[in-house]
Amino acid sequence: GDSILNLDKLTYSGNLENLASVKGNTNYSFVRGDIGDRALVNKILGEFKPQAIVNFAAETHVDRSVVDPNSFVQSNVVGTTNLLLESLDYWRSLEEEKKRQFRFHHISTDEVYGTLGFEDAPFTEETAYSPNSPYSASKASSDHFVRAFHETYGLPTLISNCSNNYGPRQFPEKLIPLMILNAIEGKPLPIYGNGKNIRDWLHVNDHCDAISTILKKAVPGESYNVGGNCEKNNLEVVGAVVKILDKECPRSDGKSYSEQITFVKDRPGHDLRYAIDASKIKKELRWSPSFNFDQGIRDTVLWYLNNEEWVRNVKNGSYQDWIKQNYEER
Ligand code: DAU
Repeated sequence: GDSILNLDKLTYSGNLENLASVKGNTNYSFVRGDIGDRALVNKILGEFKPQAIVNFAAETHVDRSVVDPNSFVQSNVVGTTNLLLESLDYWRSLEEEKKRQFRFHHISTDEVYGTLGFEDAPFTEETAYSPNSPYSASKASSDHFVRAFHETYGLPTLISNCSNNYGPRQFPEKLIPLMILNAIEGKPLPIYGNGKNIRDWLHVNDHCDAISTILKKAVPGESYNVGGNCEKNNLEVVGAVVKILDKECPRSDGKSYSEQITFVKDRPGHDLRYAIDASKIKKELRWSPSFNFDQGIRDTVLWYLNNEEWVRNVKNGSYQDWIKQNYEER
């Protein structure tokens, strides 16, 4: 029953088709714009008067941050700080009860903690920040600004640090959709380094459910790690995708898609392992992930196979340029 206003700059990975199902709802509205545009944000806050702001806006792709760190500083650090400044002014203008209820929830990443060895204990909320890529450095910086706005000005902030998301509608620069689409197009499946790097896979619906739980239940100033309890190395993930494709959409020559796996030059500064200790959110807010990876990855592969038009539309000129830039010289 809540009203939602969605502010999105619609950069290369933004896609209004992803919101087609809610477009007509009377309690949903969309504004195209930048979180860093203070005049626009000021106007929206004054008119819409939100009870909460959830900041999903960010440049998120590690490989792109290696090529162009500045755009990450601009969106993730400057953009978030501008959004915080306008949120603070707005929050200060609210009457006491509304002020008490207001939340600024910042969506962040487990990458701020740096990397783990194979035997290390998973990241907790107490793990020291140690970002290794320009992307994670920009997210770490934005987390610090959010925290500082709580400590310095009392803004009721929340932070969640999630692990690798997967599911339908993910832009095909990320591992899973890239592998699905490359496979069916007969292209190489490019594994960076030796494929032993580990990620903790979280279904996007579980992530959204965790965000909603944190918004409803958490005390301002807190941060929560959100993970899928699902550590897998990249070869295991690609192996799972290949197995589903071999069954659901077999190659015309009868061979397995695994023939297309190609080991390519590693990502610079490639973090070896991320793993999340999500016991805080489980204990304090009674949240844990409900998706099973085998089912989640199957549904995801089938979604991409069944949504050819969506796939065609996202693979426009700028996507092709990126694929050329990132993979041609590897
Ligand atoms: O951990 C949360 C993070 O997960 C998010 O904060 C980031 O926004 C998100 O992009 C993701 O970061 P990763 O770098 O882990 O995701 P990516 O899908 O790019 O890569 C996953 C793993 O697969 C990583 O070890 C690199 C590897 N990889 C990726 C690509 C695109 C390959 O081996 N080949 C590839 O072509």
